[in-house]
Amino acid sequence: MGELNAQLQDSLSGLHEIQAFGQEQYEGERVRQKSLDQVVAMLKALKASAIFHPCVELLSSLGTVLVVFFGGYMAYSKQISVADIVAFVLYLSLFYAPVSGLANLLENLQQSLAGAERVTLILDTPSAIQNAKDAKPLENVKGALCFDHVTFHYENEVPVLKDVSFTCDPGMMVALVGPTGVGKTTATQLISRFYDPIEGRILIDGQDIRKVTLESLRHNISPVLQDTFLFNGSIAENIGYARPDATREEIEAAAKAANIHEDILHMPDQYETQVGERGLRLSGGQKQRVAIARAILRNSPIIVLDEATASVDVRTEKQIQKAIGELAGKRTIIAIAHRLSTIMNADLILVIHEGRIAESGTHEQLMEKKGIYYNMQKAQMA
Ligand SMILES: Nc1ncnc2c1ncn2[C@@H]1O[C@H](COP(=O)(O)OP(=O)(O)OP(=O)(O)O)[C@@H](O)[C@H]1O
Ligand SMILES: [Mg+2]
Repeated sequence: MGELNAQLQDSLSGLHEIQAFGQEQYEGERVRQKSLDQVVAMLKALKASAIFHPCVELLSSLGTVLVVFFGGYMAYSKQISVADIVAFVLYLSLFYAPVSGLANLLENLQQSLAGAERVTLILDTPSAIQNAKDAKPLENVKGALCFDHVTFHYENEVPVLKDVSFTCDPGMMVALVGPTGVGKTTATQLISRFYDPIEGRILIDGQDIRKVTLESLRHNISPVLQDTFLFNGSIAENIGYARPDATREEIEAAAKAANIHEDILHMPDQYETQVGERGLRLSGGQKQRVAIARAILRNSPIIVLDEATASVDVRTEKQIQKAIGELAGKRTIIAIAHRLSTIMNADLILVIHEGRIAESGTHEQLMEKKGIYYNMQKAQMA
């Protein structure tokens, strides 16, 4: 049943892709196969149950037969009275009622255990990232960030980041640029401790992030992730997700800063408009701006923007840049962008190449250097 549900969930959420690539039949066949598997498993269970119950019945009836047989013989040879046998048969039926009840219980138990096995499999998976025993909360964060010789690879051991070091003062805007797949998103995930570095440390305000509690660490970081995720609910709920206690005024202020307020006012139910599953009913650029509003509302000292303006037009990008510009100086901003115009104003630009920081400096410094960054700029201008 679990496998069938997983398959259905997959097919339903990938509905557009399935239709666009004409894979209705293939997916239908997969669902059919899983349903068949379920039918087979159910029949097997029913068969076992159909054998089990009559067996229990048979055994209990056999007891009565034995009592009648031996009891009859003994009564015939005058060893016991008939009344005793009748009493014995009655006792026997009293005794068997709980026994068959126990048999039913056993069957239910087996069923529940099968379900429990799947649930505990998930619940018992230890999280690789845990609070250290003596972890302290991270408090009064100014937003200084430091990568100290950070080396990282995922489980597959393919190196991603190699000996990355940089420091960023509170209120600075740092930009990570570089070709796709080079490890920019990975670097930002290390800051929120979704993974721990293999070697080296990451410090916030001089404290190793492995020595502070996860909740307090993540509380101080607002991310706008590369693949925006919205929850099925209203726009106001999605923006307010960052801070459940936020008032409507605060939510609207964040929406204005992210330049989505006007769009929302044009929607049928305005802030109560339902976004649909994963934000299905919003455009890509609208989803992204809702995510930015969410991050702005969080009001935390460190903001991570991973391709935050990738799916908006140039005019909206300018406006969002302005909103981000207003945060600059007050918040530490880590920005990732392929469109270099977005990050030109950054205080520090880090060019990542083959897992290492190949160049670093401001836009002007890097342009003068005529290296990788210069060539990237030239390619985009062209
Ligand atoms: N969960 C994961 N498990 C294993 N490898 C991963 C995982 N996530 C990313 N990678 C690999 O790590 C490398 C860096 O990925 P990352 O997402 O950090 O790149 P990126 O610089 O953000 O790229 P882009 O500009 O396309 O967003 C890639 O080669 C990718 O295949
Ligand atoms: Mg990325």
